[in-house]
Amino acid sequence: MAAFTDIVVTTPKTHVTLIQLNRPQVYNALRFNLLQELSQALAAATTDDAVRCVVITGNDKAFAAGADINEFQAQTLVSTATDRDQRSQHWQALRGFPKPVIAAVNGFALGGGCEMAMNCDIIIAGDTAKFGQPEINLGIIPGGGGTQRLPRTVGKSLAMKMILSGERIDAETALTAGLVAEVVPAAKTLERALELAELIASKPPIAVRMAKDAVLRSYDVPIEAGLLYERRAFSILFATEDRKEGVAAFLEKRKATFKGQ
Ligand code: COA
Repeated sequence: MAAFTDIVVTTPKTHVTLIQLNRPQVYNALRFNLLQELSQALAAATTDDAVRCVVITGNDKAFAAGADINEFQAQTLVSTATDRDQRSQHWQALRGFPKPVIAAVNGFALGGGCEMAMNCDIIIAGDTAKFGQPEINLGIIPGGGGTQRLPRTVGKSLAMKMILSGERIDAETALTAGLVAEVVPAAKTLERALELAELIASKPPIAVRMAKDAVLRSYDVPIEAGLLYERRAFSILFATEDRKEGVAAFLEKRKATFKGQ
Protein backbone atom coordinates (compact mmCIF):
# COMPACT_ATOMS: atom_id res chain seq x y z
CA MET A 1 0.00 0.00 0.00
CA ALA A 2 1.31 3.44 -0.93
CA ALA A 3 2.40 5.80 1.86
CA PHE A 4 -0.38 8.29 2.42
CA THR A 5 -0.41 11.58 4.32
CA ASP A 6 -4.03 12.75 4.06
CA ILE A 7 -5.67 9.41 4.78
CA VAL A 8 -4.91 6.44 7.01
CA VAL A 9 -5.79 3.00 5.68
CA THR A 10 -6.18 0.04 8.05
CA THR A 11 -7.87 -3.36 8.22
CA PRO A 12 -9.71 -3.35 11.56
CA LYS A 13 -11.86 -6.40 10.74
CA THR A 14 -11.52 -9.34 8.39
CA HIS A 15 -12.34 -8.26 4.82
CA VAL A 16 -13.02 -4.65 5.96
CA THR A 17 -10.84 -1.70 4.96
CA LEU A 18 -11.09 1.47 7.01
CA ILE A 19 -10.10 4.76 5.39
CA GLN A 20 -9.78 7.60 7.86
CA LEU A 21 -9.57 11.13 6.48
CA ASN A 22 -6.58 12.64 8.21
CA ARG A 23 -6.42 16.43 8.05
CA PRO A 24 -7.82 17.19 11.51
CA GLN A 25 -6.31 20.69 11.63
CA VAL A 26 -8.63 21.81 8.79
CA TYR A 27 -11.70 19.67 9.55
CA ASN A 28 -10.55 17.18 6.89
CA ALA A 29 -10.93 19.72 4.08
CA LEU A 30 -10.78 17.75 0.84
CA ARG A 31 -7.67 19.06 -0.83
CA PHE A 32 -6.64 17.62 -4.16
CA ASN A 33 -4.01 15.36 -2.58
CA LEU A 34 -6.58 13.81 -0.23
CA LEU A 35 -8.92 13.00 -3.12
CA GLN A 36 -6.02 11.53 -5.06
CA GLU A 37 -4.98 9.34 -2.14
CA LEU A 38 -8.55 8.22 -1.57
CA SER A 39 -8.83 7.30 -5.21
CA GLN A 40 -5.57 5.30 -5.01
CA ALA A 41 -6.73 3.48 -1.88
CA LEU A 42 -10.04 2.61 -3.53
CA ALA A 43 -8.26 1.39 -6.67
CA ALA A 44 -6.17 -0.96 -4.50
CA ALA A 45 -9.29 -2.12 -2.63
CA THR A 46 -11.09 -2.80 -5.93
CA THR A 47 -8.58 -5.39 -7.07
CA ASP A 48 -7.91 -6.92 -3.65
CA ASP A 49 -10.26 -9.89 -3.16
CA ALA A 50 -9.57 -9.77 0.57
CA VAL A 51 -11.45 -6.45 0.75
CA ARG A 52 -15.21 -6.91 0.76
CA CYS A 53 -16.41 -3.69 2.37
CA VAL A 54 -14.94 -0.23 2.98
CA VAL A 55 -15.68 2.25 5.76
CA ILE A 56 -14.78 5.91 5.34
CA THR A 57 -14.64 8.08 8.43
CA GLY A 58 -13.25 11.34 9.77
CA ASN A 59 -12.80 12.32 13.39
CA ASP A 60 -14.96 13.53 16.29
CA LYS A 61 -15.27 17.07 14.94
CA ALA A 62 -15.66 16.47 11.25
CA PHE A 63 -16.23 13.86 8.60
CA ALA A 64 -15.08 16.57 6.16
CA ALA A 65 -15.77 20.32 5.88
CA GLY A 66 -15.83 20.26 2.09
CA ALA A 67 -13.37 21.24 -0.58
CA ASP A 68 -10.18 22.89 0.65
CA ILE A 69 -11.15 26.52 0.17
CA ASN A 70 -7.47 27.53 -0.03
CA GLU A 71 -7.22 25.65 -3.33
CA PHE A 72 -10.13 27.65 -4.78
CA GLN A 73 -7.90 30.72 -5.06
CA ALA A 74 -5.90 29.17 -7.88
CA GLN A 75 -8.90 27.68 -9.67
CA THR A 76 -10.27 29.32 -12.82
CA LEU A 77 -13.08 28.61 -15.24
CA VAL A 78 -10.62 26.92 -17.60
CA SER A 79 -8.86 24.80 -14.97
CA THR A 80 -12.20 23.68 -13.53
CA ALA A 81 -13.96 23.10 -16.86
CA THR A 82 -11.06 21.04 -18.22
CA ASP A 83 -10.67 19.14 -14.93
CA ARG A 84 -6.98 19.97 -15.13
CA ASP A 85 -6.29 18.51 -11.70
CA GLN A 86 -8.47 15.43 -12.42
CA ARG A 87 -10.60 16.25 -9.40
CA SER A 88 -13.75 14.84 -10.96
CA GLN A 89 -11.91 11.66 -11.93
CA HIS A 90 -11.03 11.16 -8.29
CA TRP A 91 -14.68 11.62 -7.32
CA GLN A 92 -15.50 9.02 -9.95
CA ALA A 93 -13.25 6.55 -8.11
CA LEU A 94 -15.66 6.66 -5.17
CA ARG A 95 -18.81 6.90 -7.27
CA GLY A 96 -17.82 3.88 -9.36
CA PHE A 97 -16.33 1.78 -6.56
CA PRO A 98 -17.96 -1.63 -6.96
CA LYS A 99 -17.89 -2.85 -3.35
CA PRO A 100 -20.05 -1.50 -0.51
CA VAL A 101 -18.85 1.68 1.21
CA ILE A 102 -20.16 2.90 4.55
CA ALA A 103 -19.64 6.48 5.73
CA ALA A 104 -19.24 6.83 9.51
CA VAL A 105 -20.02 10.50 10.14
CA ASN A 106 -19.42 12.52 13.30
CA GLY A 107 -19.39 16.32 13.36
CA PHE A 108 -19.44 18.36 10.17
CA ALA A 109 -20.18 16.81 6.78
CA LEU A 110 -20.32 19.98 4.70
CA GLY A 111 -20.08 20.68 1.00
CA GLY A 112 -17.89 18.00 -0.54
CA GLY A 113 -17.98 16.23 2.84
CA CYS A 114 -21.76 15.85 2.59
CA GLU A 115 -21.35 14.82 -1.06
CA MET A 116 -18.68 12.29 -0.16
CA ALA A 117 -20.99 10.74 2.44
CA MET A 118 -23.80 10.66 -0.14
CA ASN A 119 -21.48 8.93 -2.62
CA CYS A 120 -21.12 6.14 -0.06
CA ASP A 121 -23.79 3.44 0.01
CA ILE A 122 -24.83 3.73 3.65
CA ILE A 123 -24.36 6.59 6.12
CA ILE A 124 -24.13 5.87 9.84
CA ALA A 125 -24.30 9.18 11.69
CA GLY A 126 -23.30 10.05 15.21
CA ASP A 127 -25.73 12.25 17.09
CA THR A 128 -23.30 15.18 16.66
CA ALA A 129 -23.36 14.97 12.87
CA LYS A 130 -24.29 18.05 10.86
CA PHE A 131 -24.91 17.92 7.14
CA GLY A 132 -24.91 20.92 4.86
CA GLN A 133 -24.17 22.33 1.41
CA PRO A 134 -22.76 25.79 2.23
CA GLU A 135 -21.21 26.44 -1.22
CA ILE A 136 -23.73 29.22 -1.88
CA ASN A 137 -21.90 31.32 0.73
CA LEU A 138 -18.79 31.21 -1.48
CA GLY A 139 -20.60 32.23 -4.66
CA ILE A 140 -20.65 28.70 -6.09
CA ILE A 141 -22.86 25.61 -5.98
CA PRO A 142 -22.19 21.99 -4.99
CA GLY A 143 -19.80 20.36 -7.48
CA GLY A 144 -19.56 16.78 -6.21
CA GLY A 145 -23.10 15.73 -7.06
CA GLY A 146 -25.01 17.59 -4.33
CA THR A 147 -27.60 19.22 -6.58
CA GLN A 148 -28.48 15.82 -8.05
CA ARG A 149 -28.10 13.45 -5.11
CA LEU A 150 -29.61 15.53 -2.33
CA PRO A 151 -33.06 16.02 -3.96
CA ARG A 152 -33.15 12.33 -4.94
CA THR A 153 -32.38 11.45 -1.34
CA VAL A 154 -34.21 13.96 0.86
CA GLY A 155 -36.72 15.41 -1.62
CA LYS A 156 -36.84 18.76 -3.40
CA SER A 157 -37.96 21.06 -0.62
CA LEU A 158 -35.33 20.15 1.96
CA ALA A 159 -32.62 19.91 -0.73
CA MET A 160 -33.51 23.37 -2.02
CA LYS A 161 -33.50 24.77 1.50
CA MET A 162 -30.03 23.35 2.20
CA ILE A 163 -28.51 24.30 -1.17
CA LEU A 164 -30.06 27.77 -1.50
CA SER A 165 -29.64 28.88 2.11
CA GLY A 166 -26.53 26.95 3.15
CA GLU A 167 -28.33 26.00 6.38
CA ARG A 168 -27.19 22.77 7.99
CA ILE A 169 -29.37 19.92 9.24
CA ASP A 170 -28.68 17.80 12.30
CA ALA A 171 -28.45 14.02 12.51
CA GLU A 172 -32.06 13.45 13.54
CA THR A 173 -33.35 15.57 10.64
CA ALA A 174 -31.03 13.65 8.30
CA LEU A 175 -32.48 10.40 9.62
CA THR A 176 -36.08 11.54 9.17
CA ALA A 177 -35.26 12.74 5.65
CA GLY A 178 -33.66 9.42 4.68
CA LEU A 179 -30.16 10.84 4.21
CA VAL A 180 -28.71 8.51 6.85
CA ALA A 181 -29.53 4.92 7.73
CA GLU A 182 -28.97 5.14 11.49
CA VAL A 183 -28.11 7.66 14.20
CA VAL A 184 -26.08 6.38 17.13
CA PRO A 185 -24.29 8.06 20.05
CA ALA A 186 -21.21 9.77 18.58
CA ALA A 187 -18.82 7.60 20.59
CA LYS A 188 -20.28 4.51 18.88
CA THR A 189 -20.41 5.69 15.25
CA LEU A 190 -17.29 3.96 13.99
CA GLU A 191 -17.92 0.84 16.05
CA ARG A 192 -21.42 0.50 14.56
CA ALA A 193 -20.18 1.19 11.02
CA LEU A 194 -17.47 -1.47 11.37
CA GLU A 195 -19.95 -3.96 12.81
CA LEU A 196 -22.23 -3.41 9.83
CA ALA A 197 -19.28 -3.62 7.44
CA GLU A 198 -18.23 -6.94 8.99
CA LEU A 199 -21.75 -8.28 8.57
CA ILE A 200 -21.88 -7.21 4.90
CA ALA A 201 -18.38 -8.64 4.37
CA SER A 202 -19.64 -12.02 5.59
CA LYS A 203 -22.23 -12.15 2.78
CA PRO A 204 -21.54 -13.63 -0.68
CA PRO A 205 -19.35 -11.01 -2.38
CA ILE A 206 -20.63 -11.42 -5.94
CA ALA A 207 -24.25 -11.12 -4.81
CA VAL A 208 -23.33 -8.09 -2.69
CA ARG A 209 -21.73 -6.36 -5.68
CA MET A 210 -24.66 -7.14 -7.94
CA ALA A 211 -27.13 -5.95 -5.32
CA LYS A 212 -25.24 -2.65 -4.97
CA ASP A 213 -25.09 -2.24 -8.72
CA ALA A 214 -28.80 -2.98 -9.12
CA VAL A 215 -29.83 -0.51 -6.41
CA LEU A 216 -27.63 2.24 -7.91
CA ARG A 217 -29.18 1.57 -11.32
CA SER A 218 -32.59 2.42 -9.91
CA TYR A 219 -31.44 6.07 -9.84
CA ASP A 220 -30.38 6.08 -13.48
CA VAL A 221 -32.75 4.02 -15.58
CA PRO A 222 -36.53 3.73 -16.13
CA ILE A 223 -38.15 1.11 -13.91
CA GLU A 224 -38.68 -1.46 -16.69
CA ALA A 225 -34.96 -1.35 -17.56
CA GLY A 226 -34.09 -1.59 -13.86
CA LEU A 227 -36.37 -4.59 -13.39
CA LEU A 228 -34.84 -6.30 -16.41
CA TYR A 229 -31.35 -5.64 -15.03
CA GLU A 230 -32.39 -7.09 -11.68
CA ARG A 231 -33.87 -10.20 -13.30
CA ARG A 232 -30.65 -10.81 -15.28
CA ALA A 233 -28.43 -10.29 -12.26
CA PHE A 234 -30.70 -12.60 -10.24
CA SER A 235 -30.36 -15.31 -12.91
CA ILE A 236 -26.59 -14.94 -13.19
CA LEU A 237 -26.19 -15.43 -9.45
CA PHE A 238 -27.68 -18.92 -9.77
CA ALA A 239 -24.45 -19.92 -11.51
CA THR A 240 -22.23 -19.01 -8.54
CA GLU A 241 -20.65 -21.41 -6.07
CA ASP A 242 -21.76 -19.08 -3.30
CA ARG A 243 -25.41 -19.55 -4.29
CA LYS A 244 -24.96 -23.33 -4.05
CA GLU A 245 -23.20 -22.94 -0.70
CA GLY A 246 -25.87 -20.55 0.66
CA VAL A 247 -28.75 -22.85 -0.27
CA ALA A 248 -26.93 -26.00 0.93
CA ALA A 249 -26.00 -24.36 4.25
CA PHE A 250 -29.62 -23.36 4.83
CA LEU A 251 -30.90 -26.86 4.09
CA GLU A 252 -28.16 -28.48 6.22
CA LYS A 253 -28.87 -25.99 9.04
CA ARG A 254 -25.25 -24.74 9.19
CA LYS A 255 -23.49 -21.40 8.69
CA ALA A 256 -22.54 -20.70 5.09
CA THR A 257 -18.96 -19.89 4.09
CA PHE A 258 -18.86 -17.66 1.04
CA LYS A 259 -15.76 -17.54 -1.14
CA GLY A 260 -16.73 -15.06 -3.82
CA GLN A 261 -16.81 -17.81 -6.45
N1 COA B 1 -11.17 24.52 3.57
C1 COA B 1 -10.03 24.94 4.11
N2 COA B 1 -9.87 25.16 5.43
C2 COA B 1 -10.92 24.90 6.22
C3 COA B 1 -12.14 24.43 5.72
C4 COA B 1 -12.25 24.24 4.32
N3 COA B 1 -13.36 23.76 3.76
N4 COA B 1 -13.00 24.26 6.76
C5 COA B 1 -12.33 24.60 7.85
N5 COA B 1 -11.08 24.98 7.54
C6 COA B 1 -10.03 25.45 8.45
C7 COA B 1 -10.23 26.89 8.89
O1 COA B 1 -9.73 27.78 7.92
C8 COA B 1 -9.44 26.90 10.16
O2 COA B 1 -8.07 27.00 9.87
P1 COA B 1 -7.11 27.92 10.80
O3 COA B 1 -7.11 27.23 12.15
O4 COA B 1 -5.79 27.84 10.11
O5 COA B 1 -7.72 29.28 10.82
C9 COA B 1 -9.69 25.51 10.74
O6 COA B 1 -10.10 24.72 9.66
C10 COA B 1 -10.78 25.52 11.77
O7 COA B 1 -11.91 26.13 11.20
P2 COA B 1 -12.78 27.26 11.95
O8 COA B 1 -13.65 27.92 10.93
O9 COA B 1 -11.88 28.13 12.75
O10 COA B 1 -13.64 26.35 12.94
P3 COA B 1 -15.14 26.54 13.45
O11 COA B 1 -15.35 25.45 14.45
O12 COA B 1 -15.40 27.93 13.86
O13 COA B 1 -16.06 26.23 12.17
C11 COA B 1 -16.75 25.05 10.19
C12 COA B 1 -16.04 24.97 11.55
C13 COA B 1 -16.56 23.71 9.52
C14 COA B 1 -18.24 25.32 10.39
C15 COA B 1 -16.13 26.19 9.34
O14 COA B 1 -14.73 26.02 9.32
C16 COA B 1 -16.62 26.26 7.92
O15 COA B 1 -17.69 26.80 7.67
N6 COA B 1 -15.81 25.73 6.97
C17 COA B 1 -16.08 25.86 5.55
C18 COA B 1 -17.21 24.93 5.13
C19 COA B 1 -17.52 25.13 3.67
O16 COA B 1 -17.89 26.20 3.21
N7 COA B 1 -17.40 24.04 2.89
C20 COA B 1 -17.72 24.03 1.49
C21 COA B 1 -16.53 24.33 0.69
S1 COA B 1 -16.96 24.36 -1.03
